[in-house]
Amino acid sequence: MAPPFLLLLLLLSSFRSSLSSNPSLSATPKHLTKSNNTVRIQWSGVPSPSPLDWLGIYSPPDSPDDHFIGYLFLNSSPSWPSGAGALHLPLVNLRSNYSFRLFRWTANEINYRHHDHDQNPLPGTRHRLAVSEEVGFERAAGPDQIHLSFTDREDEMRVMFLTGDGAQSFVRYGLEEGNLDQSVGTEVRRYERKDMCDSPANSSLGWRDPGFIHDGVMKSLKKGTRYYYKVGSDAGGWSEIHSFISRDNGSNETIAFLFGDMGTYTPYATFYRIQEESKSTVKWILRDIEALGNKPAIVSHIGDISYARGFSWIWDEFFNQIEPIASRVPYHVCIGNHEYDWPLQPWRPGWSYGVYRKDGGGECGVPYSLRFKMPGNSSLPTGTVAPNTENLYYSFDAGVVHFLYISTETNFLKGSDQYNFIKADLESVDRNKTPFIVVQGHRPMYTTSNEVTDTPMRERMLEHLEPLLVQYNVTLALWGHVHRYERFCPVKNFSCVDMASQFESGGAPVHVVIGMAGQDWQPIWEPRPTHLDVPIFPQPERSMYRGGEFGYTRLVATREKLTLTYIGNHDGQTHDMVEIPSGHTLKNDDGEGVVESTLSWYVKGAVMLMLGVFVGYALGFVTRCRRNNVQRATWTPVRMEESEANGP
Ligand SMILES: *[C@@H]1O[C@H](CO)[C@@H](O)[C@H](O)[C@H]1NC(C)=O
Ligand SMILES: *[C@@H]1O[C@H](CO)[C@@H](O)[C@H](O)[C@H]1NC(C)=O
Ligand SMILES: *[C@@H]1O[C@H](CO)[C@@H](O)[C@H](O)[C@H]1NC(C)=O
Ligand SMILES: *[C@@H]1O[C@H](CO)[C@@H](O)[C@H](O)[C@H]1NC(C)=O
Ligand SMILES: *[C@@H]1O[C@H](CO)[C@@H](O)[C@H](O)[C@H]1NC(C)=O
Ligand SMILES: *[C@@H]1O[C@H](CO)[C@@H](O)[C@H](O)[C@H]1NC(C)=O
Ligand SMILES: *[C@@H]1O[C@H](CO)[C@@H](O)[C@H](O)[C@H]1NC(C)=O
Ligand SMILES: *[C@@H]1O[C@H](CO)[C@@H](O)[C@H](O)[C@H]1NC(C)=O
Repeated sequence: MAPPFLLLLLLLSSFRSSLSSNPSLSATPKHLTKSNNTVRIQWSGVPSPSPLDWLGIYSPPDSPDDHFIGYLFLNSSPSWPSGAGALHLPLVNLRSNYSFRLFRWTANEINYRHHDHDQNPLPGTRHRLAVSEEVGFERAAGPDQIHLSFTDREDEMRVMFLTGDGAQSFVRYGLEEGNLDQSVGTEVRRYERKDMCDSPANSSLGWRDPGFIHDGVMKSLKKGTRYYYKVGSDAGGWSEIHSFISRDNGSNETIAFLFGDMGTYTPYATFYRIQEESKSTVKWILRDIEALGNKPAIVSHIGDISYARGFSWIWDEFFNQIEPIASRVPYHVCIGNHEYDWPLQPWRPGWSYGVYRKDGGGECGVPYSLRFKMPGNSSLPTGTVAPNTENLYYSFDAGVVHFLYISTETNFLKGSDQYNFIKADLESVDRNKTPFIVVQGHRPMYTTSNEVTDTPMRERMLEHLEPLLVQYNVTLALWGHVHRYERFCPVKNFSCVDMASQFESGGAPVHVVIGMAGQDWQPIWEPRPTHLDVPIFPQPERSMYRGGEFGYTRLVATREKLTLTYIGNHDGQTHDMVEIPSGHTLKNDDGEGVVESTLSWYVKGAVMLMLGVFVGYALGFVTRCRRNNVQRATWTPVRMEESEANGP
């Protein structure tokens, strides 16, 4: 018995050593036709497989070993213990080839000083086992990262997209899918490494060629009509045909999907924690948009857009991720701390010591300013060689709602350009045309999360901006930054205005925090002062509903009432709702005025409040239990930052 067994062992070991001398790695297909195509990455012959063996993803393909854009552990392939396996990975076009490398990493080589932003050690590159051939996109792969937005004109629609070479490109559009008979050229711009104000954005690890940003405006559109379009050129390839419903300023209905802090999902781990939940947010909004048929809608993402924070390719992943919605409905944004926030920012008032940190990863607002183009012309110098910071404050009408976007990241104090803009804008609203005003900004004016560092900013917002919101009877104020949903009563100086009559007398916006679209870092809720021993609930009186689930809000407004609902990502269902009547006098057939009853709001509000308290209590309780199990037994203020560059 012994000799054959020994022989087998011998055979096996020689088999193994022959394998270990050349583990192999391949990726197919080598030529991809479109961004988001999937490659199959296959390996074999890995000796004594370890669960720490990993695959590095590189672009450009000649990057140093420790400059991967992301990584995956081989053990995500079920056959990994055999030393062979395969992974499937969708690749976003980074305008440069990809390559893949296999590494052996062992437990005793874990270096806790070389870690990602969550303190997870980054995989070691000392033992490289195999390198794949390059994988690239065809030159005619076509443009990608398509996204729409409004311009300052009612009969236009802007479309932006990206190409690798900036070659002359067009937008072809028309009323029939088979007859795109109109065409406009695009303006092209880009930014350079020297425009980034600091590391990681300007480092060789974070910087990648961002491509060329194309901007085309479709003109003379008929109102409220479906248009078909494609972008590109014969030489560089064309996109698929997409469609949208054009603006209709006479429309009596407004539909919007609004959220903040969504971020990006990437199919690999990288230097920052990614926002996995953003995938569901996009999925449910796409469901809702598809259900709308021929009704127009807008999307509103109020700051903390991609969370790239200096790692360039995350912007590419972000725009690829939102394309299914942003190619169909205008995608509107305002600036958050993660787009700019940097100590060298020119606007840095004395009270801001705790606010201006390094949340922008050295991007100083440049990718945000150039990759989007919002209505208006607000613009501020960056104080460096970089192009100006743009898309700061602007407004537009959509049906019955006047939307105003503001920047909490630039000067908003009395006397500032932004303050004057906000005041003039609110003053000029024609309430007969748009009975509702929705104001949106990133850092909240009201929150009951324990968000200590922003206190001086909130005080300034309350002092300088709240009086404007009150004076001009703003309907709704939406904020991000805190990664939870929280709805307040119609509030003024921390007090709920009498709800039964407030809409007749005007004067107190309903504030809602909607930063729950993807980023998962949560500050803890503030307890009611008399209930310190019950830390999560009951909440302060002005806070009517607090939700712990990821999701987004859906706004539906008619001339009579505005309804805002909170959709949870876990089930795609409504979890909170507020209805606000316009109090607008409608003319009926006899020409008599009919005033919408405010009682209905009060009753519905109260019912939703009860439900809200109940569901909120349950969620809060669950969240609290989870937190306590993990972290602590008593309520204490938590640090907002895990590191200087990882804020809310
Ligand atoms: C990119 O990869 C493809 C496929 O392997 C290859 O044919 C092409 O030459 C590569 N491009 C460059 C610039 O190396
Ligand atoms: C990045 O920016 C900082 C601050 O301006 C500068 O000190 C540094 O040299 C830059 N790094 C690179 C690689 O350009
Ligand atoms: C809609 O826009 C057109 C063109 O800008 C303008 O003439 C018209 O008055 C607007 N209609 C309403 C209801 O505002
Ligand atoms: C909106 O309502 C007004 C007043 O009821 C009406 O005159 C107008 O035709 C409506 N607009 C549309 C697009 O239905
Ligand atoms: C990318 O691929 C995923 C999965 O097939 C798909 O859901 C998504 O819509 C694609 N994105 C784009 C921009 O084509
Ligand atoms: C920006 O827009 C405002 C209002 O529309 C206008 O008064 C101002 O002249 C514009 N500024 C520039 C630089 O175009
Ligand atoms: C807000 O309320 C506080 C305390 O109730 C009060 O001292 C302050 O004067 C009020 N501010 C305004 C602008 O009404
Ligand atoms: C706001 O509402 C009050 C009370 O109804 C009213 O007196 C005031 O004119 C309104 N202001 C504006 C700008 O609509």
